[in-house]
Amino acid sequence: MLDAVSKAFFHGLARSRMLKHLASRYGMRRPSSFARRFIAGETIDEALEAARAIQAGGLLITLDQLGESVTGPEDASQATRTYLTVIDRIVAAGVERNISVKLTQLGLDIDRATCVDNLRRILDAAGRHEFFVRIDMENSPYVETTLDIFETLWGQGYRHAGVVLQSALFRSEADTDRVNRLGARVRLVKGAYKEPRTVAYQRKAEVDAAFMRIARKLMTGGVYPAIATHDARLIDATKRLAAELDVAKTTFEFQMLYGIRRDLQARLVADGYLFRVYVPFGDEWFPYFMRRLGERPANVGFVLKGVLGER
Ligand code: FDA
Repeated sequence: MLDAVSKAFFHGLARSRMLKHLASRYGMRRPSSFARRFIAGETIDEALEAARAIQAGGLLITLDQLGESVTGPEDASQATRTYLTVIDRIVAAGVERNISVKLTQLGLDIDRATCVDNLRRILDAAGRHEFFVRIDMENSPYVETTLDIFETLWGQGYRHAGVVLQSALFRSEADTDRVNRLGARVRLVKGAYKEPRTVAYQRKAEVDAAFMRIARKLMTGGVYPAIATHDARLIDATKRLAAELDVAKTTFEFQMLYGIRRDLQARLVADGYLFRVYVPFGDEWFPYFMRRLGERPANVGFVLKGVLGER
């Protein structure tokens, strides 16, 4: 319950222009700035540097150029062009070819056709260079359209893409069967958004139980699932599930967000599991950052310390 209240509070703050202004002034300015714990940097150069360092430790990466809720066609087009540059820069840098994108960044709020055109441009460029493209999942009003667009493009032969399903949503178990039938890759998460009780579980215990039910479906009927959580209990449960089902460590991967639970990340790699870090970067970092605070209000203390230290 507390989880839901804190999510709602921080999602409210995420809409504050004044806070956004203050955060962009203090959040990323110096290497010690507070937002840098969760965001690799504002530029692609900084993101590539972070990616290289992570890969050097034997971990996999996916790069995310932050941005969402774009309302103008020119902004969606610009975000798409930026992604095309990011693809070229990743190829030139020789880091792993794996990116994550959000459909509202590509114009889903403008209209579906704009978004699909932009996504196709990214998938075409990505396909030429053998990238994998993960389509992040946004809040519940976007889930059906996101899955529908994904299915359409999958049917057109875009097989180097995957989706995300959120265990908090009632619908996700059925969606897991739907994506498993396609033979597409799923990243399983709990869900970062404050959702109404009509569509989502509100209690952590229910979200966690659904997470493990979906993990089982993915391990038995899915293709190379990604189990994305920082929850040590669910990670242990996933390891036990894999052992029970006699699933090889190479047929699934764990994922975590940049800057969170590095201790657990290192332990999983040492134990021989495949492990990917989601590396977000770019100047549109504020909503992503606020979601991270909402997940763990204790982070606010360290942010305040950072702000006071910056002055
Ligand atoms: P939970 O929130 O229960 O946290 C478990 C433990 O992890 C905490 O006790 C704490 O130790 C640690 N922890 C969690 N969050 C922390 C934080 N912010 N700071 C410090 N410690 C923290 N969501 C979504 O809706 N759509 C998406 O596309 C994605 N994509 C995605 C990719 C990857 C790689 C990950 C790991 C997560 C996402 N998410 C996401 C976010 C996801 O839905 C969820 O909000 C967060 O992962 C937090 O939930 P946990 O599973 O970590 O559990």
